Parts: sequence; structure tokens; C-alpha cells
Amino acid sequence: MNLGSVIVYITGLLWLNLTDAKIGYFWHITDFHYDPFHNSPELHRGCKHSRNNNEHSHRNGRHRDHTCDSSWRLIQSAAAFMAERHPDALEFVLWTGDILSSSMEHMPEEYKLEAVRNVTELLSRTFSSQFVFPALGHNDPPPSRRLVDMWMQWLPTDALNTFETGGYYTIDQSHTKLLIVVLNSVLWAGGAARTDGPHSHRGRAQWEWLEKVLLKARTTNKMVYLVGHAGPGVEERPNAGSSSASGGGELTPSANGRLLHIIKAFSDIIVGQFYGHRHADTFRLIYREGRPVSWAFLAPSVTPRGAGSISNPGLRLYKFDSNTGKVLDYTQYYLDVTNSRGEVHWAIEYNLTQYYGLREVSANSLEVLADRIRNYNDRGVFSKYLSALRVRHSTDISDCDTACVHVHYCAITRADYHEFRACVRNPASALASRAPHTSAAILLYAILILISS
Ligand SMILES: *[C@@H]1O[C@H](CO)[C@@H](O)[C@H](O)[C@H]1NC(C)=O
Ligand SMILES: *[C@@H]1O[C@H](CO)[C@@H](O)[C@H](O)[C@H]1NC(C)=O
Repeated sequence: MNLGSVIVYITGLLWLNLTDAKIGYFWHITDFHYDPFHNSPELHRGCKHSRNNNEHSHRNGRHRDHTCDSSWRLIQSAAAFMAERHPDALEFVLWTGDILSSSMEHMPEEYKLEAVRNVTELLSRTFSSQFVFPALGHNDPPPSRRLVDMWMQWLPTDALNTFETGGYYTIDQSHTKLLIVVLNSVLWAGGAARTDGPHSHRGRAQWEWLEKVLLKARTTNKMVYLVGHAGPGVEERPNAGSSSASGGGELTPSANGRLLHIIKAFSDIIVGQFYGHRHADTFRLIYREGRPVSWAFLAPSVTPRGAGSISNPGLRLYKFDSNTGKVLDYTQYYLDVTNSRGEVHWAIEYNLTQYYGLREVSANSLEVLADRIRNYNDRGVFSKYLSALRVRHSTDISDCDTACVHVHYCAITRADYHEFRACVRNPASALASRAPHTSAAILLYAILILISS
């Protein structure tokens, strides 16, 4: 072969590769936390704001209050924006739970289901020719015949069978290699209010089911997306823990460990993980034998309300190769609730690959990003990360010192609870080679953590 024919050959291969990739899109939307009482001050169950805030929000339209869950108007505006942004090749929608405000926890089941139905109908009008794949969160009604009736428009029969009893299911995209595995993370979550748990009958059934599904996916050459409300990993923001105060949501330590074990064992076929729950825009890396083998993206919430951590509402549109499931990029949209003057204006926040300068979306490229995030000599990347984490609610990083940066780094790279704590306690050795001038501050922080624990 001469050089010319080699070039022709390579060009041919590249061309084949390019035409093989079928570009598609999917939305990932999560944590609506719809509060039907948002506009009734006499009842204000969901809006736990101070008097000042109350007056303020009355003046400006309540959906813009960071201490309130989503009004119907906010949810409608999100739906209208998504309808307007509709890409032609929109394939499906991942909707990862916490549909209802936690303030509705003690409302009658009937009323909760009515609220879920209203949101379901809105999404069904918004995505009239796509399927929406819902995952349950801890603020949602448990799986039931009633939910099945609402969501049978989107889920095939075999999915409905496992959904009705356990809240989990698979979507086999028979025309592609992609298998979407939707988990019910509530079954593996802690919290005193729950009768279910990772060791309960239904919790155990979901483990067995998941392993069976993944084994079969491997033998049938499928590529898998893991989708759920809460995913593996820790909460990095000290004040945000109370978001799960009302009966959990967070995976128990044993469930977290077991899920990580499964992800590592099947990292060859898991090509993406998509979770919500934290009301934050972040990601997690999962390592096996010191190498990053899997990533998880956590999408920010639609509700601007968090506990201890507040953010702007976000909506995320993924771009992917719909034949193989390979994620190529995403566009993060947001609504600036603090600065918009009365009108609801959703806008682009950033595009993943461009924002962080990634060549591709992979565990390796995200590991490089994690290293840049913790690099004290270049606070630029960390500043971008923190701004994204809060969905541009604040771009000020002065409240996050070197020790705080390190906690963020540990949260991204240590999904195991023990490893996270070890990473946080031992920053000096983890960082000694990189930032000698900051190690004194970090040591001090480590000592403080040791004392306080
Ligand atoms: C659901 O929608 C109906 C019709 O718009 C409305 O009357 C009702 O109050 C809504 N209920 C809830 C809980 O959102
Ligand atoms: C991000 O990507 C979208 C879709 O490809 C494009 O329309 C938009 O201009 C990009 N925005 C930014 C801020 O780069």
C-alpha cells in the first residue's frame, strides 16, 4: 500500500465512522418539587420564607423566591421552553423524580396523585411524540396501579410489570444498542420513615433484578444507561444534608457500596449514569484499580429551593450517538430567578465540552477535569465548576477556600462513603505534590475535622 491509498483508506474509515454515528438528543429533567400551595399565602405550606422574603416575593412573583419550591407557573415555563427548544432528533426524556414538594409529604395520597397527574399531563402535551421515562424519588407516591395508569402512555408492558411492584424497569431500545435501566433508588435509601430499605424484600428484589438485567445486557451486546433519582456518592455541601431530612432519599452506606460494586463489575457496558436528587450540577467518577471506569452526571433541579444550598432552576439537553448510547455533549439551560425582572427567561448556561474544554465525554477526560478543578494554581476551572454547581446562582468563590475545594474534589472522585471521608481527612498527602503552599491550611482543616468527628 502506498501513502495515497493509506490516506484514502483512513479517510474512508473516518467517513464511515462519522456516518455511522446517529446524532440524537434527550432531555434530563429532575426534582420539579411542584408545590400546589405556592400561591396561597394563607396556607403557605411549601414556602418556608421569612416575612421579608414573603413581601418581596409577593411583589415580584413568587416563583422567583429561592426559598420556595416550584410554582405551577415555573413548571409551565420549563415545559414551554423545552417545547420551543425541541430538536428534531429528540429521542426521549429522562425524568428522575421528586415531582412533588416535600411540603406535601403529609397530604392525602389522592391529592399527591392529582398533582403528579397534572405534571404528567403537562409533559405529555409537551412531548407529544416522545416517551418520557420516569424514575421515582423519595417525595413521590410509591409505585401503584394509579401511577401505572398515568404512565402507561410511556412505558411498554414488560416495564409496567416490574414498575408496578418495585418502581424499576428497563427500556430496551430494540432498534439501537441502548438499554435504559431505571432504578427505584428509594428502595435502597435510608430514613426512619421508610419501611423499605436495601435489605427489605423489595430492596433485595431490585438488586437481583439489576444483576440479571446487566448480565443479559452483556450477552446481548447492549450498552446501558443507569437512571435513577439518587445515585452513588456523597453530599459535599455541609449545609445541604437536611434536604434528605424528611425520610431519606440518600442511599444507605451498604446500598451505596453494593451499587458501586455492580457499576465496577459492569463498567464495560455502562456508558452513562444519570441522577438528580442533590439539586446541584456535578459529576461522580467511579474507579477500579486506580483507573476511572465510569462516570455519573447529576443534573440540577427545576426547583430553586434547596436546603442550605440554593441554585437556579435548570434543564439539561444531552446530545448522544443514539446507536451506541455514547454521550457526546450536553447543553445546560437555566432560569436566572434572582435577576430576571418579572419575566421568565430561560437561557443557555453552558455547553459541557466547550465550557470545560473537553475533547470527549469519558471517564478519562472527566478525571483530567477533576484534577483541574482541584488545581490551586488555576482557580479558573474551579470557579467555573462552582458556578455550574449552583447553576449560576453565585459565581463568587471566595467562600470556598482550599480545604473546601478539596472536599469538592473528594466528592467527585470518591463515591464510596469511607473513601470520601479518608480523602477529606487526609488532604495533605493527597495534595502534597500539587500545592505545597496550601498544605498548612489543609492540615489545619484535617485536624478540625478530626476534632469535630
Ligand atoms: C390540577 O389541575 C386542575 C385543572 O387545571 C386544577 O383544578 C387542580 O387544582 C390541579 N391540582 C393540583 C394538585 O395541581
Ligand atoms: C451550545 O450548543 C448549542 C447547541 O449545539 C448552540 O446552539 C449554542 O450556541 C451553544 N452555546 C454556547 C454558549 O456555546
